[in-house]
Amino acid sequence: MDGKERAPGGERVLTGDRTTGRLHVGHLVGSLQNRVVLQDRHDLFLLLADVQALTTNFSHPEGLRESVRGIVLDYLAVGIDPQRATIVVQSLVPEIAELTVYYSMFVTVNSLRHNPTIKAEAAERGYNDLYYGFLGYPISQAADITFCKATLVPVGEDQLPHIEQTRKIVRRFNELYGVVFPEPRPLVGRVPRLAGLDGYGKMSKSRNNAIYLDSTQEEVTEKLRAAVTDPARVRATDPGHPEICPVFAYQQAFNEDGAADVHAACSTGRIGCKACKQMVAGLLEEVLQPIRERRQQFAARPDDISQILLTGTERARGIAKETMREVREAMKMNYLAESG
Ligand code: TRP
Repeated sequence: MDGKERAPGGERVLTGDRTTGRLHVGHLVGSLQNRVVLQDRHDLFLLLADVQALTTNFSHPEGLRESVRGIVLDYLAVGIDPQRATIVVQSLVPEIAELTVYYSMFVTVNSLRHNPTIKAEAAERGYNDLYYGFLGYPISQAADITFCKATLVPVGEDQLPHIEQTRKIVRRFNELYGVVFPEPRPLVGRVPRLAGLDGYGKMSKSRNNAIYLDSTQEEVTEKLRAAVTDPARVRATDPGHPEICPVFAYQQAFNEDGAADVHAACSTGRIGCKACKQMVAGLLEEVLQPIRERRQQFAARPDDISQILLTGTERARGIAKETMREVREAMKMNYLAESG
């Protein structure tokens, strides 16, 4: 069964999601749609990074179960096919934790402290004394990527420092112990990250500024109604500034053919915010309606979700065990073999 449905000749590709909540339309245009394409061309691994989620959610682990299973539903709803893509639960692959420990011997604290994404996230959360696991999560992410010797890692811009750190770890490991791992390359999507509807940067659950893949039509309409637009615009006929408008970003993402016209109409006061928002609500409903329907169908079959997680994780473990055998041999830790 293994490999039958997967694309022959492709690369091994791994990417992941921190399981801190449901996925939203920003994920859809920023990564999910691309994964649906990648699964046909490559041996695609999708890692549900529940251990990484714990770096910030350790005090409420009871939310992980719903996030893990909910994200699988999101995957299936958008067209990810578990026959082609291998869906893996991070915490159920202990070899990832093992690799993390070995890598952590030769990664310095300063190199982690200087990682720009770690810095930005620490500042955002108001950390001054960093949790050890949080500071070290780029090492664990290097283990995520290397346990299966992935060569291509689709990520958002903000993840580039982690991929660079992974490349350094791979080079250092290979130099210290002999070549075991390939250096992975990042694959950054063309689509810029969709901002939150309140105009304050990223979509996030706590700000209630995101449109989730399982939103109802009413929720979408309501969130758009409340969305911030160009603050300089008081009357519908005032010229708008679409480049700073969060709602216009949705026009760009979901109205490929018409966004330029809307841009012109908004800039010259020929379309008001209300009409623009109604238009976006319509466009989103077209995209979300089939996703919502598929999600409900899959949600009615919880055993299938468990089976998908089990099958994907088992395949990953088989690969991880073989990698660990090579790692132990390279590190001269194969004590039980007759000769080293
Ligand atoms: N840190 C990634 C994010 O927040 C998620 C992630 C975990 C990941 N492990 C990974 C991404 C491995 C790529 C490869 O988006």
